[in-house]
Amino acid sequence: MSIKTSTAGAITVALALILTACGSDADKAADTTAKPAATTVAAAPTTVAGAADTTPGSTPGSTAATPAGDIPDLSAYTIGFAQVGAESGWRTANTKSIQSSADAAGVKLVFTDAQGKQEAQVESIRGFIEQKVDLIAFSPVVETGWDAVLGEAKAAGIPVILTDRAIDSQEPDLYKTFLGSDFVLEGEKAGDWVNTEFADADSVKIVEIQGTTGSAPALDRAEGFRNKVTDPKFDIIASQTGDFTREGGKKVMEAFLQANPEIDLVYAHNDDMGLGAIEAIEAAGLVPGKDIKIVTVDAVHDGMQALADGKINFIVECSPLLGPQLMQLAGDVLSGKTVPTRVVTEETTFDQEQAKAALPDRQY
Ligand code: AHR
Repeated sequence: MSIKTSTAGAITVALALILTACGSDADKAADTTAKPAATTVAAAPTTVAGAADTTPGSTPGSTAATPAGDIPDLSAYTIGFAQVGAESGWRTANTKSIQSSADAAGVKLVFTDAQGKQEAQVESIRGFIEQKVDLIAFSPVVETGWDAVLGEAKAAGIPVILTDRAIDSQEPDLYKTFLGSDFVLEGEKAGDWVNTEFADADSVKIVEIQGTTGSAPALDRAEGFRNKVTDPKFDIIASQTGDFTREGGKKVMEAFLQANPEIDLVYAHNDDMGLGAIEAIEAAGLVPGKDIKIVTVDAVHDGMQALADGKINFIVECSPLLGPQLMQLAGDVLSGKTVPTRVVTEETTFDQEQAKAALPDRQY
């Protein structure tokens, strides 16, 4: 393993790992048509554990295996992956899934961590283009501002796959496919639960701890929630970003508690911020899950434990286990197959009893 550091002005990509999964051929041609077609040879992980079956008739809380198919042999290829950062338990699990799936595929993975900075991600992608990688995959920190660099990738003939988060662009054909959750639906599921939970209430004061400003999950989870929480008895009295971190969630919740004597519900856009909010609520002498109810998104292990312990009331799942599907899509793209422009991750929801049942087998 070697360390690569790239700079964008004063911005440094502090952690850039080159995973030498299959030798050290750093000068692969960008012309993917010159490569052998990716063939499926390895039966690496064939299930996406934790991704649940949400087809009609499935049960919330019942985590089902989603067939992920075989991992293709990608040992002839180099993939550049520009990760958002390491802001949350979700992100850590997502990174592990991508790295272990790349290992299983035998691909050379050039992995960079942008530490939450779009500029660093752009610089990473430019580095991948210079290195003439065969394919670029990334999870955009924010939705806008990608046209120029993705245009450069397109001009260089390097296909791009978006994972986890979408971009907002008027430019066609900047990427081959987008693999990830339906974040609007996640917000709507949270809103559905709120409607049921507070069905008998006359007035409900809600505070919202949003994800990273301008990111797809923050924008979409806010929208989805508002699509459902429409009764005038619901009042979103405050909404601020906690940047998807536990520390951010704690700070925002402390400020909310100081400014608002009465709060009935916290809607946190991820588990980590919900866990930070729990710390603030307890420090204020209140009981999370009872005095103030909490609904979050992700269903990572620590969030599920807090749900099982009664400190969170409901979690909408967002699966980070995108690695196997990413390798399959990369294999298809690299061998010239047509791929769907959108691949939606299957997800479920958990209440407290469902969390207790799911925790022993939870993989992240
Ligand atoms: O883009 C997915 C979101 O990013 C997850 O919900 C959050 O935990 C992460 O930081």
